[in-house]
Amino acid sequence: MKLFVDTAKVEHIKEVASWGVLSGVTTNPSLIAKEGRDFRPVIEEICAIVDGPISAEAVSLDAEGMLKEAREYSKWHDNVIIKLPMTDEGLKATAGCTEEGIKTNVTLIFSPMQALLAAKAGATYVSPFVGRLDDISHVGMELVQTIVAMYDNYGIETEVIVASVRSPLHVVDAALLGAHIATIPYKIFKQMLHHPLTDKGIQAFLDDWAKVPK
Ligand code: G3P
Repeated sequence: MKLFVDTAKVEHIKEVASWGVLSGVTTNPSLIAKEGRDFRPVIEEICAIVDGPISAEAVSLDAEGMLKEAREYSKWHDNVIIKLPMTDEGLKATAGCTEEGIKTNVTLIFSPMQALLAAKAGATYVSPFVGRLDDISHVGMELVQTIVAMYDNYGIETEVIVASVRSPLHVVDAALLGAHIATIPYKIFKQMLHHPLTDKGIQAFLDDWAKVPK
């Protein structure tokens, strides 16, 4: 399973990238807004840090507007992927992007049928939001399991990005279910990294090493 970071904060992206574990980045309008900077320079800076798919989201509500945004953003860098909403207009734009060779990530997926429609329209990626389903007492991971099984049945090439990740256990579950990608907030990456027994073990080794005659 590939690991993406779900943020537009450049320092956080640089840090996780330096660990050698990062295959891509996802952003959304809320994450971009948090940075208080223009969209294009943020995306270009991210593209310079990570050599992998970088999702930039279109905010138009109509297919023509989305396509216009897609054509513009995809010129910024070869790795830019256009995030499109799971609506009828979003599907139309996905089909249009597919025809023009622009890669897409259909976002805000909350049902298996939405994932099937997005794949049929040619989506490169779909993003089921597991945390937001958990928030309303639906098991988000059941959606991932269904989509992965459905895509496997027919050899569908659309990749599943597990999004709205809220805990390290979501990442474990995503990997056990065979999802292609998990997009993980910086805070969760840090939680995945640390274990108290690792810290305790390092301290014990250092204490013993200090006793070795030098
Ligand atoms: O980028 C999309 C998704 O990961 C958002 O997560 O925590 O706002 O539900 P969240």
